[in-house]
Amino acid sequence: MYHPAETRYDTMPYRRCGRSGLRLPAISLGLWHNFGSDTPHDLKRELCQAAFDNGITHFDLANNYGPPPGSAEEAFGEILKTEFAGFRDELIISSKAGYLMWPGPYGEFGSRKYLIASCDQSLKRMGLDYVDIFYSHRFDPETPLEETMGALDYIVRSGRALYVGISSYNSERTREAVAILNDLGTPCVIHQPSYNLLNRWVERDGLLETLEDLGIGSIAFTPLAQGMLTSKYLGGIPEGSRASQGKSLNKKLLSDEMVSRLQALNVIAEARGQTLAQMALAWVLRGERATTALIGASKVSQIEDCVGAVGKLDFTADELAAIDATAPDEKLVNLWARSSEEV
Ligand SMILES: NC(=O)c1ccc[n+]([C@@H]2O[C@H](COP(=O)([O-])OP(=O)(O)OC[C@H]3O[C@@H](n4cnc5c(N)ncnc54)[C@H](OP(=O)(O)O)[C@@H]3O)[C@@H](O)[C@H]2O)c1
Repeated sequence: MYHPAETRYDTMPYRRCGRSGLRLPAISLGLWHNFGSDTPHDLKRELCQAAFDNGITHFDLANNYGPPPGSAEEAFGEILKTEFAGFRDELIISSKAGYLMWPGPYGEFGSRKYLIASCDQSLKRMGLDYVDIFYSHRFDPETPLEETMGALDYIVRSGRALYVGISSYNSERTREAVAILNDLGTPCVIHQPSYNLLNRWVERDGLLETLEDLGIGSIAFTPLAQGMLTSKYLGGIPEGSRASQGKSLNKKLLSDEMVSRLQALNVIAEARGQTLAQMALAWVLRGERATTALIGASKVSQIEDCVGAVGKLDFTADELAAIDATAPDEKLVNLWARSSEEV
């Protein structure tokens, strides 16, 4: 039987999510990859245990995580039952709806029909009465925003979620969504954008300033650029890595030019006494820009490495300048640009 580490709250900082009462760990764990039926259940269990033992109280899911879609929520539901029974109140669990989940006109985007049905399905798969945060996973250009936000409001009022958030909405859409939610009396507490050293769309968009102005927290997803910002690819593409699997990380991104830039970033990280992954996470968290960095992991050792980032979150001006001169803002890293930048 699993007994969480007594020391689990000793080193992880918990940062206030915007102006809400919710505090989130500086590092959170997402279950997009490595929690589908192609991964042994024991490994999924070990990853969740290692996360919680290291102070990661926030687990991020979505209806479509797998493969197949839904299987990550089913696996996590099993882990909640067998490992975390009795610890529900120490956990922040999120889910989302927005991407394709089932066939036909009601299985994706932002209609009331889809969001409420999908939330019910997610709760069932995880065996939960409620999720802590429920997100609109992407902006829907065809459904009135009033309808999508109205569905989020209903999801909270009906007890299915405690808080709501939006993901990959640009500043303009965020302001519109937040105004509607405020009118409805269900504030938006969190925004989930992609953000890392190689993908700075939030800086070009001004989203971070928008969120600060609105008093909304943020959870930066793919802070390691799916693993590019770690030591993993410094000497080529290792067997079994995400880039080798032909899934969401296109190996063409790891050109000779990119790898030499990653090697140069690694030198900066070493001079700071950090691994490249730790420096990339610290960079996203610097100056409270993001409330929390939302990592993925395929090994327990990766989680242990990543949580070490919190030991040094500050940067000198020289370090930031050296990083800026080395890390390219590579547009192809942002797979989610259609939702955020092209609406
Ligand atoms: N809202 C959205 O639209 C959206 C979209 C995408 C993701 N997300 C969320 O963000 C979460 C994280 O996404 P992500 O998995 O792409 O994040 P990521 O942290 O950028 O990449 C995770 C991958 O990096 C590698 N890695 C992690 N730590 C490492 C370390 N210390 N040393 C070496 N390699 C390391 C592993 O790759 P290997 O597997 O190759 O070992 C791991 O699977 C998702 O699970 C999901 O919750 C949200």
